[in-house]
Amino acid sequence: MKKKGNILIGICGGIAAYKICQLVRLLVKNGYLVKVMMTPAATEFIRPLVFKELTGQPVYQKMFSLGNQDAQHISLSEWADLAIIAPLSANTLSKVACGICDNLLTSVVCALTSSKPVLLAPAMNEGMWKNPLIQENLFRLKKIKNYTVLSPERGELACKTIGIGRMAEPGKIYKKAEAILKKPKS
Ligand SMILES: Cc1cc2nc3c(=O)[nH]c(=O)nc-3n(C[C@H](O)[C@H](O)[C@H](O)COP(=O)(O)O)c2cc1C
Repeated sequence: MKKKGNILIGICGGIAAYKICQLVRLLVKNGYLVKVMMTPAATEFIRPLVFKELTGQPVYQKMFSLGNQDAQHISLSEWADLAIIAPLSANTLSKVACGICDNLLTSVVCALTSSKPVLLAPAMNEGMWKNPLIQENLFRLKKIKNYTVLSPERGELACKTIGIGRMAEPGKIYKKAEAILKKPKS
């Protein structure tokens, strides 16, 4: 099958990381070529091996490694037709909003040109979500033309409370990704 597009998924350290397996399956099943990059915190929640098996591609984690002297943040940003950052943690949300590039994921996002769409799916505890600093950083992100934010939903959170902070469901992220890729480039 001809591949429909290159999708780069960035996973941050949050409980919702396990839901990205379903998103990857949906994308691969529907003909997309998928690569996954993970922050060091994300690998505490789910093993990179899972994504290597689901995508059939290496999983990108480190900015620097002895075996690889390439500028992977640049090659990955060039490879992607669309980047999805999900779950987007409060930490990475704030770093991206400030242009901080202190790991592979944040460096790739920073290196993506304005012609590359970026889909952000934050997920966090309600207290973090409502923190005025997070809201201010979110506001900054929403102003970027090629960024789309899929706001978190209300429901049961991993911390056993009900509130806003649940990551949008994988099916919803998938549909949004398809819609973004189908949109004619302006
Ligand atoms: C059990 C557990 C669950 C967590 N869930 C979340 C979460 O859903 N969202 C979030 O923003 N941070 C969450 N955190 C905190 C992040 O893992 C932490 O801020 C980390 O530094 C994020 O790093 P990253 O943005 O580089 O992935 C959680 C931490 C723990 C221990």
